[in-house]
Amino acid sequence: MDRKHIFAVVGARPNFMKVAPVMQALSATGRFKLSLVHTGQHYAPEMSDDFFRDLGMGKPDFHLEVGSASHAVQTARILERFEPVVLEQKPDFVLVAGDVNSTLACSLVAAKLLIPVGHIESGLRSRDRTMPEEVNRLVTDALSDILFTTSRDADENLVAEGVPKGKIFFVGNTMIDTLKRFESAARASDIAVRQGVERGRYLLVTLHRPSNVDSPEGLERVLTYLTEAARRMPVLFPVHPRTKASLERMGRWSALESMPALHLLPPLGYPDFLALMAQARAVLTDSGGVQEETTALQVPCLTLRPNTERPVTMTEGSNLIVSDDVAKHVSLLDDLLSGRVVPRDACPELWDGHAGERIAAVLVDQVR
Ligand code: UD1
Ligand code: UDP
Repeated sequence: MDRKHIFAVVGARPNFMKVAPVMQALSATGRFKLSLVHTGQHYAPEMSDDFFRDLGMGKPDFHLEVGSASHAVQTARILERFEPVVLEQKPDFVLVAGDVNSTLACSLVAAKLLIPVGHIESGLRSRDRTMPEEVNRLVTDALSDILFTTSRDADENLVAEGVPKGKIFFVGNTMIDTLKRFESAARASDIAVRQGVERGRYLLVTLHRPSNVDSPEGLERVLTYLTEAARRMPVLFPVHPRTKASLERMGRWSALESMPALHLLPPLGYPDFLALMAQARAVLTDSGGVQEETTALQVPCLTLRPNTERPVTMTEGSNLIVSDDVAKHVSLLDDLLSGRVVPRDACPELWDGHAGERIAAVLVDQVR
């Protein structure tokens, strides 16, 4: 049998957790030749290679090594380096995930070469174009031939934008497939104790959105919030490289280092980070993926953003968003810690650990 060749593209940290279960499910069908392409948008071992090892993904078949740069330069580098690989390998289908620059660039290359594109996590919309990810989502979805969605609201967004219903497949959340795979080990892990905190008695923080960390005003807001949080409970903060660079540039890193209840950590491997999420009293974040994972784990999540493209985490799950006003956030944190606010605890439809298999089933049917 002539097996169709599928390219699966990853580039930045959240892509690895979204694509790993799909690769596994596609491989299990025995129907495809699979190639994993890493653009190299993220490249530090703790933002890249460690995930390949921990998730059992094997090495990428093609590594574009684009590294960091401005949006235009990084996107252009991916375009330039992905096109020759596609021309030479002639894949029958290109699968992209999420909303990072690698997602947009690789879908654009494929679409121009008339190769069908599948987008994992289509249809999410924050309706906030100051977020670079929103632009990436809109363009990728406009170019995609098969749009895999994680929630019903995403289907509605796509239909409202004129995407034919026949191209949209509501399959659930592949990031939650990865979570389910590691969940029992995460709950049993002793990582909290090893970090010097008590299970259920600490706050976990992640921050990397440009709106929070790139400007002095954003950073000041975040630092005030962290200071207040650390007065209430020990805080573990694995620091994203963008955030660390910004803190150092603005001369604020050493002040954070000297705060006793704030534990600054490097970016963590997925199993350890998942364990710290699962055992936290609450998670404070601006990450997209972390909003979903805390919902799946039923751990309260306070999102430091004025909006979310993942409304299902608020309407059904444990996500709370007030605005980016620090005073409101601190008051919400107090309400949460005192039990005055109790987040929802339902798990959204089809966030059941089998989304990758559903994607594979669609591709068996559509890519022949
Ligand atoms: C990117 C994505 C964002 C996603 C995030 C996940 C875009 C536009 N942004 O943001 O949607 O939420 O990844 O983590 O695609 N850096 C390193 N080492 C690395 C990677 C980055 O030091 O391995 C530093 C560099 O200083 C770099 C900065 O982080 O300039 C930002 O990296 P970049 O990939 O441009 O954006 P992220 O903020 O990571
Ligand atoms: N994550 C991780 N280590 C960390 C922080 C996050 O493994 O130190 C994982 C997290 O569990 C989730 C993904 O990285 O699976 C989210 O990526 P990130 O927050 O960088 O990007 P976003 O989801 O905001 O695009």
